[in-house]
Amino acid sequence: MNTERFSSALGLVCILTAGTTAHAENFSQALSWNCNGCHGPAGASAGQAIPGIAGIHPRYFFKVMRDFKLDERQATIMGRIARGYRTAELREMAKHFSANTWTSAKTIAPEGQFLAGKAVHDEHCVECHEDAGRYQDKEIPRLAGQWPSYLLYQLADYQQNHAKMPQPDKMRERVKKLTREDLEAVCGFYGQVDDEYRLDVESGLITGEAQAPLLGTLAPNRP
Ligand code: HEC
Ligand code: HEC
Repeated sequence: MNTERFSSALGLVCILTAGTTAHAENFSQALSWNCNGCHGPAGASAGQAIPGIAGIHPRYFFKVMRDFKLDERQATIMGRIARGYRTAELREMAKHFSANTWTSAKTIAPEGQFLAGKAVHDEHCVECHEDAGRYQDKEIPRLAGQWPSYLLYQLADYQQNHAKMPQPDKMRERVKKLTREDLEAVCGFYGQVDDEYRLDVESGLITGEAQAPLLGTLAPNRP
């Protein structure tokens, strides 16, 4: 377990759960207040280790939350949080967050990583994570515009074939073969892909606005 990530997350939970109220008129809005401290207003996360959850497919959202609740999915913090809600509430949350618009992290990968990551993506990942990782459905999460650090945590967990990281056999095989360098590159690639923001692969020119490079701060693998 990554203790730094865990303890900062836990600190927030304490603050957030202290002020819980369930009396607001808008049921899902009230529920979402307990998530915003970490996942950002309307689910557009500003924390590198915390995924953006706005606009994700409602059935994927619900499945992940239910897995967290039942302790069937690897988590540093979400298991504890999801256990505090009834299944019907998880459904409401899924509806609420999926109705929001996806907001990309807009990171820039260190030099050379975008194209190296694209090569990994094209060879191993595009079959399911179509459209440069923008595609999503009830089983496949969107990767494009997600925080690279978060994606890397997930990939490390998948690669170690953690018993609580459900993944298709094909993904397991492909992720297994990748080096740490490949993983970092492909996460850098996804972090940089966005709807408005693209790196022109032909010219190597970057267009659109982006944040500073963020991959330098990647944390080590979770055990
Ligand atoms: C203390 C910080 C924190 C709070 C509060 C929090 N989350 Fe999370 N969330 C995380 C972290 C960190 C992860 C990555 C999984 C893990 O390590 O637990 C995550 C993962 C998720 C995911 C999985 C996304 C994916 O792409 O697989 C969903 C969905 C989610 N959270 C929804 C919620 C909802 C809904 C709430 C409010 C009820 C909430 N979270 C509150 C930190 C938080
Ligand atoms: C056979 C289809 C398939 C292939 C090929 C595949 N994936 Fe996936 N991927 C999935 C599915 C399905 C999930 C959701 C699994 C789950 O429920 O945890 C997923 C989840 C992920 C996640 C977690 C995202 C999140 O928000 O938690 C990452 C990161 C990821 N894949 C990256 C990759 C990379 C990188 C490759 C190529 C090396 C790859 N995948 C190849 C199907 C695939």
